Amino acid sequence: MKINHVAIAVNNLDEAVKEYQNVLGVKKVEFETVDAEGVRVAILYLENSRIELMEPTKDTSPIKKFLEIRGEGLHHIALETEAIEGEVDRMKDTGVRFLGEVRPGSGGTKITFIHPKSLHGVLTELCSHTKK
Ligand code: CO
Repeated sequence: MKINHVAIAVNNLDEAVKEYQNVLGVKKVEFETVDAEGVRVAILYLENSRIELMEPTKDTSPIKKFLEIRGEGLHHIALETEAIEGEVDRMKDTGVRFLGEVRPGSGGTKITFIHPKSLHGVLTELCSHTKK
């Protein structure tokens, strides 16, 4: 397993991207809108991983609710595994609680989330690239 990305909830994506790029000196950025999750995402490419900044695109977005309750900050980390279904089965045996089934994520990935209560307060995404 390795860290695929760290996701941060922000109020204003364009402002946040400029600040992150300026402070970290990151050049490569891609934008993506995920309608199903109600977010617009900026992906900042680091040498070995990515930071994803996310802003809500609608009032029903879970990110909107997160920002109202917690304010800006770390939303989740994403761990990449080669075979997500196998990992999920293995983790279910350890009593881990998942948020939803394995489902399509962005860019042809498969994803699911582990409840923060199962990992000491950190919402954790599991992701896997769909085999071509
Ligand atoms: Co993510």
